[in-house]
Amino acid sequence: MAKLLILILSSLLLLCCSATSTLPVVRRAERKQLMVTEYGEISSVDVRTAAAPTKGPYHVEFITLDPNSLFLPVLLHADMVFYVHSGSGKLSWTGDGEDEVKRVDLKRGDVYRLEPGSVFFLQSDLENERQKLRIHAIFSTTDEDIWEPWIGAYSSISDLVLGFNAKLLQSSFGVTEGVIEEITTTPKPPGIVHAPASESSEEKEEKKKKSVFYELENRFLKVMAGEEAGLINLKKSKKSKTFNILEADPDFHNCNGWSLTVDKGNYKNLKGSNMGVFMVNLTKGAMMGPHWNPMATEIAVVLEGEGMVRIICASNSTGCKNERFIVREGDVFVVPRFHPMAQMSFNNGSFVFMGFSTTSKKNHPQFLVGKSSVFQTLDREVLALAFNASNTTIDQLLLASQEDAIILECVSCAEEEFRLMVEEIEREREREEEERKREEEEERRKREEEEERKRQEEEEERKRQEEEERKRREEEEERKRREEEERKRREEEEERKRQEEEERREREEEARRQKEEGARKEQEQARKEEEERKRRREEAEEEAQQKREEEEERRQQEEARKEEEERERQRREEEAAAREEEEEEERQRREEAAREKEEEEATREQEEARRQEEERQRRREKEEAAAAAREKEEEEERERKEEEEEEGGGGGGRRSFRELPMKLWM
Ligand SMILES: *[C@@H]1O[C@H](CO)[C@@H](O)[C@H](O)[C@H]1NC(C)=O
Ligand SMILES: *[C@@H]1O[C@H](CO)[C@@H](O)[C@H](O)[C@H]1NC(C)=O
Ligand SMILES: *[C@@H]1O[C@H](CO)[C@@H](O)[C@H](O)[C@H]1NC(C)=O
Ligand SMILES: *[C@@H]1O[C@H](CO)[C@@H](O)[C@H](O)[C@H]1NC(C)=O
Ligand SMILES: *[C@@H]1O[C@H](CO)[C@@H](O)[C@H](O)[C@H]1NC(C)=O
Repeated sequence: MAKLLILILSSLLLLCCSATSTLPVVRRAERKQLMVTEYGEISSVDVRTAAAPTKGPYHVEFITLDPNSLFLPVLLHADMVFYVHSGSGKLSWTGDGEDEVKRVDLKRGDVYRLEPGSVFFLQSDLENERQKLRIHAIFSTTDEDIWEPWIGAYSSISDLVLGFNAKLLQSSFGVTEGVIEEITTTPKPPGIVHAPASESSEEKEEKKKKSVFYELENRFLKVMAGEEAGLINLKKSKKSKTFNILEADPDFHNCNGWSLTVDKGNYKNLKGSNMGVFMVNLTKGAMMGPHWNPMATEIAVVLEGEGMVRIICASNSTGCKNERFIVREGDVFVVPRFHPMAQMSFNNGSFVFMGFSTTSKKNHPQFLVGKSSVFQTLDREVLALAFNASNTTIDQLLLASQEDAIILECVSCAEEEFRLMVEEIEREREREEEERKREEEEERRKREEEEERKRQEEEEERKRQEEEERKRREEEEERKRREEEERKRREEEEERKRQEEEERREREEEARRQKEEGARKEQEQARKEEEERKRRREEAEEEAQQKREEEEERRQQEEARKEEEERERQRREEEAAAREEEEEEERQRREEAAREKEEEEATREQEEARRQEEERQRRREKEEAAAAAREKEEEEERERKEEEEEEGGGGGGRRSFRELPMKLWM
């Protein structure tokens, strides 16, 4: 049933709080070390809840004294309420306006309170068990007094005293100069020192009286208390009684555990203080039922075992969050006012915690369950509406709450909470992991984008460069091409020029040649003409010469012919004589031959004779023809000579050659 209620409550209030905050727990290991000496130590915790950030911080100190040690006197700045966790000892104090130094014996379970302005010191007993004296103290403001935590909870008297000069101290204390000198010049001990050896209390008393240290201390305390110098009258007053929680009857007790609250109602010494003390002992598998404190914020210290704490955030402010956490011995946890909570012990051990609540007035924790439950006073129809449940369900709820159930049996509740907590942590871890991954992913994505962007830029740059390169190359090629073209053009031009030149030259040459040719031809012509002229001249000359020669020759020939004719006529006369002789001879010879051959061939002789006859005939005809021709020629010559003689009288006797061979041949 209690479980159900928690779940209902949780689900009701779960809506509200989502902002994250640090857990309202300070672990033992997280305590701040204020002082560590050979004989003891002091650590502290300042707690402030995220749910009530304006309250506090609450300053809690843990004072530990080894057996037979002394916590040297201090001036208290704040209201101090403490609980003796272990060991035993004595507290000496003065200062609340009374004339005496009070002293109380302290033992385990004691609660005591010191008002601000008190001067006190502590001494631990030398016990057989050698238990350390452990005190859990809270420092706070009172109704009349505002304590500023920054000035510290207390200050040592040596610091206070030695702030003054020796003269002032000497006159103040009324002691010799030597005494003051010793006080002021010796090195000061730390806050916790070894106490003088333990003796019987009377002996101790005696010793203290004799000891300079105690004398001084007493005197100092006396001075502080406004008394005259002298032995301190130590006596126990009503006020110097402690309240022992462990010996008192608990407010609530059952087999699941017990709880007790100490306030000014049951401990008058707390009157004027803002602090109360409470203690809870949960046995195995038990739970302090869901409740809230209408008046107080609780600052708890785990004394024994471990347990789970569940705190529901009742407000919808930021920083307020439902909490579920495990606490172990020495941990300090805070539950703000109005925040419903439940503490649970595990099945395997009890869970004991004490704490300070911020009010010493009667605190009425409001339990959800039980006879005194707030629900009992509320109208069940309203409840039914509030829970959106049927009348019967609410009836059952209220009926179940009839039994008084402040501390309930709750087997495995802590384990369940622990499991949920682990899950939550796991989820949180996963969430963080996811967040981390998401961030990493985001980072990676960004990086990739960046890389992609870079890559693209590079690509673009590369392309651009390529483009440029390409353009450059193109331009280069274009340039080369143009150059080439230019070169070709030039070459062509040159070629053309050259050709033109050549042509020109050729033309010139041709012209020249033609000219030359012309000249040559002209010359030739001239020469030819000259030659022709010459030739003609020569020919003419030659002709003339020849004519002359011919003339001469003809004349000579004429002469020669005339001579020849003369000779010819003579020769012909001779020849005619010779031939007649020859013919005679031949006739004689042939007559001789014919006589020789007469016998042989008469015919042939005849023939021969005939043929000879014919030959002779023919010759005669010839001679006659020739003679006729000669006569004709001579006739012609004669006529010609006559003509010539008629013309000029030259020549006359010339004969043609042509006549000669014929004459010769005849
Ligand atoms: C708490 O209760 C358990 C069981 O009843 C007991 O053994 C233990 O001593 C108690 N602790 C204190 C501090 O009372
Ligand atoms: C809690 O506060 C938030 C805003 O901070 C609001 O949106 C929400 O409704 C509140 N819840 C309740 C139950 O009032
Ligand atoms: C008791 O149980 C809880 C959770 O199951 C565990 O964390 C713890 O160590 C146990 N304590 C002892 C004394 O066995
Ligand atoms: C009450 O609960 C019922 C379901 O059981 C639901 O339909 C209804 O809306 C709730 N009423 C309100 C006011 O939330
Ligand atoms: C609850 O009880 C009231 C009065 O007793 C009654 O008027 C109402 O009808 C009941 N509602 C249901 C759902 O039973």
